[in-house]
Amino acid sequence: MNELLTFALNAADEAGQITLKYFRQDVTVELKSDDSPVTIADREAERYLRETIAKKFPNHGILGEEEGTTGDQSERWVIDPIDGTKSFICGVPLYGVLLSYERDGEPMVGVSHFPALGETVWAKKGGGASLNGKPCRVSPVGELSRATLCVGSHTSLEDTGKMDGFMKLARQTRAARTWGDAYGHCLVATGRTEAMIDPRVSYHDLSAVSLIVKEAGGRFTNFKGEEGIYHEAISCNAALFNQVVGVFA
Ligand code: IPD
Ligand code: CA
Ligand code: CA
Repeated sequence: MNELLTFALNAADEAGQITLKYFRQDVTVELKSDDSPVTIADREAERYLRETIAKKFPNHGILGEEEGTTGDQSERWVIDPIDGTKSFICGVPLYGVLLSYERDGEPMVGVSHFPALGETVWAKKGGGASLNGKPCRVSPVGELSRATLCVGSHTSLEDTGKMDGFMKLARQTRAARTWGDAYGHCLVATGRTEAMIDPRVSYHDLSAVSLIVKEAGGRFTNFKGEEGIYHEAISCNAALFNQVVGVFA
């Protein structure tokens, strides 16, 4: 597993360097069929990761946001070359390169690298989570009045009927912020915030962060509190999980 983790950390770092070449530059923003933005930085970073993986692990499959699925999926790498493209195109540094290694659909190694922040959070199954090389854990805060809650997008909350629950929760917390995307989940995993909710996500958004949050001692579930990777996600510290999920049940 160490070889896989070392590889993933190096590859994410290299892909991050590619994104930095374009960060805060005048890049063209195209819209994909689902209306989400994409840039040359997303495409180049995924291309680099695919080529690097194919060279080192020719038998492994790949699921990548920009180029889809290739190869045998029993051992595969899941790539989100720029998570938080909307932050990236605004010059906001809260975007990340996400890379995970999965065996039979289970994340074994997960890396979330935030090149413009100089933060890398990673985990390996059964081995805990780390931030820039130091072990990290979710916060022990057990009162909503001392908690910080994050969400990626208010319109997604409204579109999915989750706005009332979110507002109920937000009114009880110390702060509610839109430090979203994978960074929001990593804030929970590193004990800086207590909960992150995202009502609309895809598999490649979540594979790496789901492992990171769980290995940091947190809970990673859908809005019903079921553990796993769905098209919605809640990351939470263990102490507040029942209260946070309870609002949406
Ligand atoms: C987005 C983020 C966000 C989620 C969106 C995704 P992208 O990813 O993961 O958390 O709510 O649905 O599109 O497009 O910036 O990689
Ligand atoms: Ca992306
Ligand atoms: Ca994403």
